[in-house]
Amino acid sequence: MPSKSSSASSKKSSCSCFSTRTLGFFAVFLALFAALYSYLDARLEQFYVFEPNHLHDLSQRAISAHGNDTRAVVSYIVNELDQKLEGKYLNKDEEWVFNNAGGAMGAMYIIHASITEYLIIFGTAIGTEGHTGRHTADDYFNILQGTQLAYVPGEYEPEVYPQGTVHHLRRGEVKQYKMDESCFALEYARGWIPPMLFFGYADTFSSTLDFPTLWATTRITGREMIGNLLNFKM
Ligand SMILES: *[C@@H]1O[C@H](CO)[C@@H](O)[C@H](O)[C@H]1NC(C)=O
Repeated sequence: MPSKSSSASSKKSSCSCFSTRTLGFFAVFLALFAALYSYLDARLEQFYVFEPNHLHDLSQRAISAHGNDTRAVVSYIVNELDQKLEGKYLNKDEEWVFNNAGGAMGAMYIIHASITEYLIIFGTAIGTEGHTGRHTADDYFNILQGTQLAYVPGEYEPEVYPQGTVHHLRRGEVKQYKMDESCFALEYARGWIPPMLFFGYADTFSSTLDFPTLWATTRITGREMIGNLLNFKM
């Protein structure tokens, strides 16, 4: 009788010892992860290869050169970036895919995707409207053609972003946005990109069930992110 109870109690203590140890490892892992996150978050600047002011100036110059020939505007932009970055970090194939997010629908061409930045051409020739999403990155929407409208609760007037302007959506902010008709933009995001992908994918699972598009987007994004990491670009 006494031996039985002692074996049961030793079993119990080894069991709780194991879970305490697991919890300890988990706490250490979490602490390391939090430390790494705040360390990198404070140094995000040094990973960036694009500049919001340069992209805005470049968009304006491309529009002055090619007006509403948006195809030519896009190649002007990509060619200059290619020269500036000496052939690195860019996807020069215009692999257009649909993008459904926040209830809005358009298409995009991914020019660059990495852990801390993405640069895309996003737009639609027929207009759309939706929720911007609440993101872990700053977003700069350079209007190349058409006009984008934005609305924030509490206002009675829309924000209006015509051709050549830039709509800066700050990290963590949200808006309703609309393109009444044809509108295309050079969209640049800098911050933490991977968490934004959940927003970019949500509408596929809740609405479109367009898995070939999901696969194409994942393949291109993954290829670009990994290719950049192999080039020491986070
Ligand atoms: C593009 O077309 C719009 C609408 O027709 C016009 O208002 C705008 O001035 C044009 N932009 C350029 C750069 O030609």
